[in-house]
Amino acid sequence: MRTIVPIILAGFFGTMALATFAMSAYWETYEKVPDQPIAFPHDIHAGDLNIACTHCHQYVEVGKQATVPALSICMDCHAGMQSDKPEIIKLQGYWERQEEVAWQRIHTMPDHVYFSHKRHIKAGVDCAECHGDMTVVNTVKQVRTFQMGFCVSCHRANAASQDCWTCHK
Ligand code: HEC
Ligand code: HEC
Ligand code: HEC
Ligand code: HEC
Ligand code: HEC
Repeated sequence: MRTIVPIILAGFFGTMALATFAMSAYWETYEKVPDQPIAFPHDIHAGDLNIACTHCHQYVEVGKQATVPALSICMDCHAGMQSDKPEIIKLQGYWERQEEVAWQRIHTMPDHVYFSHKRHIKAGVDCAECHGDMTVVNTVKQVRTFQMGFCVSCHRANAASQDCWTCHK
Protein backbone atom coordinates (compact mmCIF):
# COMPACT_ATOMS: atom_id res chain seq x y z
CA MET A 1 0.00 0.00 0.00
CA ARG A 2 2.71 2.47 1.06
CA THR A 3 4.37 2.32 -2.34
CA ILE A 4 1.16 2.44 -4.29
CA VAL A 5 -0.03 5.77 -2.86
CA PRO A 6 2.88 7.87 -4.19
CA ILE A 7 2.57 6.13 -7.55
CA ILE A 8 -1.12 7.02 -7.69
CA LEU A 9 -0.33 10.58 -6.61
CA ALA A 10 2.41 10.91 -9.20
CA GLY A 11 -0.02 9.60 -11.76
CA PHE A 12 -2.63 12.07 -10.58
CA PHE A 13 -0.36 15.11 -10.76
CA GLY A 14 1.06 13.92 -14.06
CA THR A 15 -2.46 13.79 -15.43
CA MET A 16 -3.21 17.24 -14.03
CA ALA A 17 -0.10 18.66 -15.68
CA LEU A 18 -1.11 17.07 -18.98
CA ALA A 19 -4.68 18.35 -18.61
CA THR A 20 -3.39 21.88 -17.96
CA PHE A 21 -1.18 21.63 -21.01
CA ALA A 22 -4.10 20.36 -23.08
CA MET A 23 -6.31 23.19 -21.78
CA SER A 24 -3.82 25.85 -22.86
CA ALA A 25 -3.71 24.29 -26.32
CA TYR A 26 -7.53 24.20 -26.20
CA TRP A 27 -7.87 27.92 -25.50
CA GLU A 28 -5.32 28.76 -28.12
CA THR A 29 -7.25 26.86 -30.77
CA TYR A 30 -10.79 27.68 -29.76
CA GLU A 31 -10.69 31.19 -28.40
CA LYS A 32 -8.97 32.87 -31.31
CA VAL A 33 -11.40 35.73 -31.80
CA PRO A 34 -9.70 38.53 -33.74
CA ASP A 35 -11.09 42.05 -33.61
CA GLN A 36 -13.04 42.37 -36.84
CA PRO A 37 -13.16 45.77 -38.58
CA ILE A 38 -16.96 45.59 -38.29
CA ALA A 39 -18.79 43.51 -35.68
CA PHE A 40 -20.80 41.37 -38.10
CA PRO A 41 -23.64 39.41 -36.45
CA HIS A 42 -24.29 35.96 -37.99
CA ASP A 43 -27.31 35.43 -35.74
CA ILE A 44 -29.21 38.41 -37.22
CA HIS A 45 -28.38 37.56 -40.85
CA ALA A 46 -28.26 33.75 -41.00
CA GLY A 47 -30.72 33.32 -38.10
CA ASP A 48 -33.40 36.04 -37.81
CA LEU A 49 -33.26 37.10 -41.49
CA ASN A 50 -32.67 33.51 -42.66
CA ILE A 51 -30.20 34.53 -45.41
CA ALA A 52 -28.58 31.40 -46.88
CA CYS A 53 -24.90 30.81 -46.05
CA THR A 54 -24.25 30.54 -49.78
CA HIS A 55 -25.66 34.03 -50.41
CA CYS A 56 -22.53 35.39 -48.74
CA HIS A 57 -20.06 32.48 -48.89
CA GLN A 58 -20.55 32.13 -52.61
CA TYR A 59 -17.79 29.70 -53.52
CA VAL A 60 -18.37 27.10 -50.82
CA GLU A 61 -20.21 24.72 -53.19
CA VAL A 62 -17.90 25.15 -56.15
CA GLY A 63 -14.43 25.84 -54.75
CA LYS A 64 -11.81 24.97 -52.23
CA GLN A 65 -12.41 28.17 -50.26
CA ALA A 66 -15.79 29.37 -49.04
CA THR A 67 -14.61 33.03 -49.24
CA VAL A 68 -16.05 36.00 -47.36
CA PRO A 69 -18.50 38.27 -49.19
CA ALA A 70 -17.54 41.38 -51.14
CA LEU A 71 -18.81 44.64 -49.70
CA SER A 72 -21.24 45.00 -52.61
CA ILE A 73 -23.24 42.03 -51.24
CA CYS A 74 -23.72 43.86 -47.95
CA MET A 75 -24.68 47.04 -49.76
CA ASP A 76 -27.48 45.33 -51.70
CA CYS A 77 -29.35 45.75 -48.42
CA HIS A 78 -27.44 48.31 -46.41
CA ALA A 79 -26.92 51.05 -49.04
CA GLY A 80 -30.35 52.54 -48.76
CA MET A 81 -31.05 51.44 -45.20
CA GLN A 82 -31.15 54.43 -42.85
CA SER A 83 -29.44 53.63 -39.61
CA ASP A 84 -27.98 55.37 -36.60
CA LYS A 85 -26.18 52.19 -35.59
CA PRO A 86 -22.40 52.73 -35.35
CA GLU A 87 -21.47 49.46 -37.14
CA ILE A 88 -23.74 50.31 -40.09
CA ILE A 89 -22.33 53.85 -40.28
CA LYS A 90 -18.83 52.29 -40.37
CA LEU A 91 -19.98 49.91 -43.14
CA GLN A 92 -21.34 52.79 -45.22
CA GLY A 93 -18.05 54.64 -44.71
CA TYR A 94 -16.18 51.73 -46.34
CA TRP A 95 -18.61 51.86 -49.24
CA GLU A 96 -18.21 55.63 -49.75
CA ARG A 97 -14.43 55.24 -49.74
CA GLN A 98 -14.74 52.18 -52.03
CA GLU A 99 -12.53 50.30 -49.60
CA GLU A 100 -12.96 46.54 -49.07
CA VAL A 101 -13.37 45.43 -45.45
CA ALA A 102 -10.22 43.62 -44.26
CA TRP A 103 -11.94 40.71 -42.46
CA GLN A 104 -9.53 38.75 -40.25
CA ARG A 105 -9.29 35.06 -41.06
CA ILE A 106 -10.25 32.66 -38.25
CA HIS A 107 -10.14 29.07 -39.57
CA THR A 108 -6.93 27.87 -41.19
CA MET A 109 -5.29 24.57 -42.12
CA PRO A 110 -1.55 24.03 -41.93
CA ASP A 111 0.24 24.01 -45.30
CA HIS A 112 0.75 20.25 -45.23
CA VAL A 113 -2.99 19.56 -45.20
CA TYR A 114 -5.25 19.68 -48.23
CA PHE A 115 -8.85 20.67 -47.57
CA SER A 116 -11.60 21.61 -49.98
CA HIS A 117 -15.15 22.71 -49.18
CA LYS A 118 -16.71 21.64 -52.48
CA ARG A 119 -16.56 17.86 -51.99
CA HIS A 120 -17.97 18.08 -48.47
CA ILE A 121 -20.91 20.27 -49.46
CA LYS A 122 -21.64 18.07 -52.51
CA ALA A 123 -21.62 15.02 -50.21
CA GLY A 124 -24.24 16.73 -48.02
CA VAL A 125 -22.02 17.47 -45.01
CA ASP A 126 -23.62 20.33 -43.09
CA CYS A 127 -21.63 23.50 -42.29
CA ALA A 128 -22.55 22.99 -38.64
CA GLU A 129 -20.58 19.70 -38.45
CA CYS A 130 -17.38 21.69 -38.72
CA HIS A 131 -18.36 25.25 -37.76
CA GLY A 132 -21.13 24.74 -35.21
CA ASP A 133 -24.56 26.33 -35.58
CA MET A 134 -23.71 29.70 -37.11
CA THR A 135 -27.35 30.86 -37.10
CA VAL A 136 -27.18 31.52 -33.35
CA VAL A 137 -23.65 32.91 -33.17
CA ASN A 138 -22.98 36.62 -32.73
CA THR A 139 -19.18 36.52 -33.01
CA VAL A 140 -17.43 33.81 -35.06
CA LYS A 141 -15.18 31.42 -33.16
CA GLN A 142 -13.56 28.18 -34.15
CA VAL A 143 -15.48 25.48 -32.29
CA ARG A 144 -13.64 22.34 -33.53
CA THR A 145 -9.95 21.57 -33.17
CA PHE A 146 -9.55 20.47 -36.82
CA GLN A 147 -6.99 17.95 -35.68
CA MET A 148 -6.36 14.91 -37.82
CA GLY A 149 -8.52 12.67 -35.60
CA PHE A 150 -11.53 14.92 -36.15
CA CYS A 151 -11.25 14.63 -39.92
CA VAL A 152 -10.37 10.94 -40.01
CA SER A 153 -13.13 9.79 -37.65
CA CYS A 154 -15.82 11.36 -39.81
CA HIS A 155 -14.20 9.93 -42.94
CA ARG A 156 -14.25 6.50 -41.32
CA ALA A 157 -17.92 6.85 -40.30
CA ASN A 158 -18.88 7.93 -43.83
CA ALA A 159 -16.69 5.54 -45.81
CA ALA A 160 -14.77 8.53 -47.20
CA SER A 161 -11.10 8.11 -48.07
CA GLN A 162 -8.63 7.66 -45.19
CA ASP A 163 -5.59 7.41 -47.45
CA CYS A 164 -2.81 9.70 -46.30
CA TRP A 165 -2.51 11.34 -49.70
CA THR A 166 -6.16 12.40 -49.65
CA CYS A 167 -5.33 15.09 -47.10
CA HIS A 168 -1.54 15.30 -47.52
CA LYS A 169 -0.73 16.00 -51.15
C1 HEC B 1 -24.94 38.34 -44.85
C2 HEC B 1 -23.70 37.63 -45.13
C3 HEC B 1 -23.38 36.34 -44.40
C4 HEC B 1 -24.18 35.23 -44.21
C5 HEC B 1 -25.65 35.04 -44.61
C6 HEC B 1 -23.37 34.23 -43.56
N1 HEC B 1 -22.10 34.72 -43.36
FE1 HEC B 1 -20.52 33.73 -42.57
N2 HEC B 1 -19.38 35.41 -42.68
C7 HEC B 1 -19.78 36.62 -43.21
C8 HEC B 1 -18.74 37.61 -43.02
C9 HEC B 1 -18.80 39.07 -43.43
C10 HEC B 1 -17.68 36.95 -42.36
C11 HEC B 1 -16.33 37.55 -41.93
C12 HEC B 1 -16.50 38.28 -40.62
C13 HEC B 1 -16.55 37.42 -39.42
O1 HEC B 1 -15.79 36.46 -39.31
O2 HEC B 1 -17.39 37.70 -38.53
C14 HEC B 1 -18.11 35.56 -42.16
C15 HEC B 1 -17.35 34.59 -41.56
C16 HEC B 1 -17.73 33.24 -41.48
C17 HEC B 1 -16.87 32.17 -41.00
C18 HEC B 1 -15.46 32.33 -40.49
C19 HEC B 1 -14.48 32.55 -41.62
C20 HEC B 1 -13.05 32.53 -41.16
O3 HEC B 1 -12.42 33.58 -41.18
O4 HEC B 1 -12.56 31.45 -40.79
C21 HEC B 1 -17.58 31.01 -41.08
C22 HEC B 1 -17.13 29.63 -40.69
C23 HEC B 1 -18.89 31.35 -41.59
N3 HEC B 1 -18.96 32.72 -41.83
C24 HEC B 1 -19.90 30.44 -41.78
C25 HEC B 1 -21.21 30.78 -42.13
C26 HEC B 1 -22.31 29.84 -42.16
C27 HEC B 1 -22.21 28.37 -41.84
C28 HEC B 1 -23.42 30.55 -42.55
C29 HEC B 1 -24.84 30.06 -42.70
C30 HEC B 1 -25.43 29.41 -41.54
C31 HEC B 1 -22.99 31.93 -42.77
N4 HEC B 1 -21.65 32.02 -42.49
C32 HEC B 1 -23.81 32.96 -43.22
C33 HEC B 1 -20.98 36.86 -43.84
C34 HEC B 1 -22.07 36.01 -43.86
C1 HEC C 1 -15.82 19.10 -43.27
C2 HEC C 1 -15.66 20.30 -42.53
C3 HEC C 1 -16.21 21.60 -43.04
C4 HEC C 1 -17.48 21.85 -43.54
C5 HEC C 1 -18.62 20.87 -43.73
C6 HEC C 1 -17.51 23.26 -43.84
N1 HEC C 1 -16.32 23.84 -43.54
FE1 HEC C 1 -15.81 25.81 -43.73
N2 HEC C 1 -13.89 25.40 -43.17
C7 HEC C 1 -13.43 24.15 -42.82
C8 HEC C 1 -11.98 24.19 -42.69
C9 HEC C 1 -11.08 23.01 -42.33
C10 HEC C 1 -11.59 25.53 -42.96
C11 HEC C 1 -10.16 26.09 -43.05
C12 HEC C 1 -9.78 25.85 -44.50
C13 HEC C 1 -8.46 26.33 -44.98
O1 HEC C 1 -7.65 26.88 -44.23
O2 HEC C 1 -8.22 26.15 -46.20
C14 HEC C 1 -12.83 26.26 -43.24
C15 HEC C 1 -12.90 27.61 -43.57
C16 HEC C 1 -14.07 28.32 -43.83
C17 HEC C 1 -14.15 29.74 -44.12
C18 HEC C 1 -12.99 30.71 -44.14
C19 HEC C 1 -11.98 30.40 -45.18
C20 HEC C 1 -12.55 30.17 -46.56
O3 HEC C 1 -12.57 29.02 -46.99
O4 HEC C 1 -12.99 31.13 -47.18
C21 HEC C 1 -15.47 30.02 -44.35
C22 HEC C 1 -16.06 31.38 -44.70
C23 HEC C 1 -16.22 28.78 -44.22
N3 HEC C 1 -15.34 27.76 -43.91
C24 HEC C 1 -17.59 28.67 -44.42
C25 HEC C 1 -18.27 27.46 -44.52
C26 HEC C 1 -19.68 27.33 -44.92
C27 HEC C 1 -20.60 28.47 -45.27
C28 HEC C 1 -19.96 25.98 -44.91
C29 HEC C 1 -21.26 25.28 -45.31
C30 HEC C 1 -21.87 25.67 -46.60
C31 HEC C 1 -18.75 25.28 -44.50
N4 HEC C 1 -17.75 26.20 -44.30
C32 HEC C 1 -18.63 23.90 -44.36
C33 HEC C 1 -14.17 23.02 -42.63
C34 HEC C 1 -15.49 22.86 -43.05
C1 HEC D 1 -30.49 40.60 -47.29
C2 HEC D 1 -30.22 41.86 -46.64
C3 HEC D 1 -28.92 42.02 -45.87
C4 HEC D 1 -27.64 41.73 -46.29
C5 HEC D 1 -27.20 41.09 -47.59
C6 HEC D 1 -26.76 42.16 -45.22
N1 HEC D 1 -27.50 42.68 -44.19
FE1 HEC D 1 -26.74 43.41 -42.44
N2 HEC D 1 -28.62 43.60 -41.71
C7 HEC D 1 -29.77 43.48 -42.46
C8 HEC D 1 -30.93 43.82 -41.61
C9 HEC D 1 -32.38 43.81 -42.05
C10 HEC D 1 -30.40 44.11 -40.33
C11 HEC D 1 -31.14 44.53 -39.08
C12 HEC D 1 -31.20 46.02 -39.13
C13 HEC D 1 -31.61 46.63 -37.84
O1 HEC D 1 -31.82 45.92 -36.88
O2 HEC D 1 -31.66 47.87 -37.83
C14 HEC D 1 -28.94 43.99 -40.43
C15 HEC D 1 -28.07 44.23 -39.39
C16 HEC D 1 -26.70 44.38 -39.53
C17 HEC D 1 -25.78 44.77 -38.50
C18 HEC D 1 -26.14 45.01 -37.03
C19 HEC D 1 -26.38 46.44 -36.74
C20 HEC D 1 -26.61 46.59 -35.25
O3 HEC D 1 -25.75 47.16 -34.61
O4 HEC D 1 -27.63 46.07 -34.76
C21 HEC D 1 -24.52 44.80 -39.05
C22 HEC D 1 -23.21 45.18 -38.36
C23 HEC D 1 -24.67 44.40 -40.43
N3 HEC D 1 -26.00 44.16 -40.70
C24 HEC D 1 -23.62 44.29 -41.33
C25 HEC D 1 -23.71 43.65 -42.56
C26 HEC D 1 -22.57 43.29 -43.38
C27 HEC D 1 -21.12 43.59 -43.04
C28 HEC D 1 -23.06 42.63 -44.46
C29 HEC D 1 -22.29 42.00 -45.59
C30 HEC D 1 -21.31 41.02 -45.19
C31 HEC D 1 -24.51 42.60 -44.33
N4 HEC D 1 -24.87 43.23 -43.17
C32 HEC D 1 -25.39 42.05 -45.26
C33 HEC D 1 -29.86 43.08 -43.78
C34 HEC D 1 -28.81 42.64 -44.55
C1 HEC E 1 -18.51 15.52 -40.75
C2 HEC E 1 -17.79 14.64 -41.65
C3 HEC E 1 -16.44 15.08 -42.23
C4 HEC E 1 -15.45 15.77 -41.60
C5 HEC E 1 -15.43 16.32 -40.19
C6 HEC E 1 -14.38 15.90 -42.56
N1 HEC E 1 -14.72 15.29 -43.75
FE1 HEC E 1 -13.56 15.26 -45.45
N2 HEC E 1 -15.05 14.23 -46.41
C7 HEC E 1 -16.23 13.80 -45.84
C8 HEC E 1 -16.99 13.05 -46.82
C9 HEC E 1 -18.35 12.39 -46.59
C10 HEC E 1 -16.19 13.01 -47.99
C11 HEC E 1 -16.46 12.25 -49.29
C12 HEC E 1 -17.02 13.12 -50.33
C13 HEC E 1 -17.24 12.32 -51.61
O1 HEC E 1 -17.22 11.09 -51.59
O2 HEC E 1 -17.40 12.97 -52.62
C14 HEC E 1 -14.99 13.80 -47.70
C15 HEC E 1 -13.98 14.05 -48.63
C16 HEC E 1 -12.80 14.72 -48.36
C17 HEC E 1 -11.76 14.98 -49.30
C18 HEC E 1 -11.79 14.62 -50.79
C19 HEC E 1 -11.43 13.21 -50.97
C20 HEC E 1 -11.05 12.92 -52.39
O3 HEC E 1 -10.92 11.72 -52.68
O4 HEC E 1 -10.84 13.84 -53.18
C21 HEC E 1 -10.74 15.63 -48.65
C22 HEC E 1 -9.43 16.11 -49.21
C23 HEC E 1 -11.17 15.79 -47.27
N3 HEC E 1 -12.42 15.23 -47.15
C24 HEC E 1 -10.41 16.39 -46.28
C25 HEC E 1 -10.87 16.62 -44.97
C26 HEC E 1 -10.09 17.30 -43.95
C27 HEC E 1 -8.68 17.82 -44.09
C28 HEC E 1 -10.90 17.36 -42.85
C29 HEC E 1 -10.62 17.97 -41.49
C30 HEC E 1 -10.23 19.37 -41.46
C31 HEC E 1 -12.15 16.70 -43.19
N4 HEC E 1 -12.09 16.27 -44.48
C32 HEC E 1 -13.21 16.58 -42.30
C33 HEC E 1 -16.67 14.04 -44.55
C34 HEC E 1 -15.97 14.76 -43.58
C1 HEC F 1 -9.12 13.20 -43.57
C2 HEC F 1 -7.89 13.94 -43.58
C3 HEC F 1 -6.60 13.30 -43.14
C4 HEC F 1 -6.12 12.04 -43.47
C5 HEC F 1 -6.82 10.95 -44.26
C6 HEC F 1 -4.80 11.95 -42.90
N1 HEC F 1 -4.47 13.13 -42.28
FE1 HEC F 1 -2.68 13.56 -41.34
N2 HEC F 1 -3.43 15.38 -40.78
C7 HEC F 1 -4.68 15.87 -41.08
C8 HEC F 1 -4.83 17.17 -40.47
C9 HEC F 1 -6.06 18.05 -40.55
C10 HEC F 1 -3.62 17.46 -39.80
C11 HEC F 1 -3.25 18.73 -39.05
C12 HEC F 1 -3.51 18.56 -37.58
C13 HEC F 1 -3.28 19.80 -36.79
O1 HEC F 1 -3.00 20.86 -37.33
O2 HEC F 1 -3.39 19.67 -35.56
C14 HEC F 1 -2.74 16.32 -40.02
C15 HEC F 1 -1.45 16.22 -39.54
C16 HEC F 1 -0.59 15.18 -39.84
C17 HEC F 1 0.80 15.13 -39.44
C18 HEC F 1 1.57 16.21 -38.72
C19 HEC F 1 1.56 15.95 -37.26
C20 HEC F 1 0.78 16.95 -36.53
O3 HEC F 1 0.43 16.67 -35.38
O4 HEC F 1 0.48 18.03 -37.07
C21 HEC F 1 1.33 13.95 -39.89
C22 HEC F 1 2.74 13.44 -39.73
C23 HEC F 1 0.24 13.23 -40.56
N3 HEC F 1 -0.91 14.03 -40.50
C24 HEC F 1 0.35 11.99 -41.15
C25 HEC F 1 -0.69 11.28 -41.74
C26 HEC F 1 -0.58 9.91 -42.24
C27 HEC F 1 0.69 9.07 -42.20
C28 HEC F 1 -1.80 9.58 -42.75
C29 HEC F 1 -2.25 8.25 -43.35
C30 HEC F 1 -2.19 7.11 -42.46
C31 HEC F 1 -2.68 10.73 -42.58
N4 HEC F 1 -1.97 11.74 -41.96
C32 HEC F 1 -4.00 10.83 -43.01
C33 HEC F 1 -5.64 15.24 -41.86
C34 HEC F 1 -5.55 13.97 -42.37
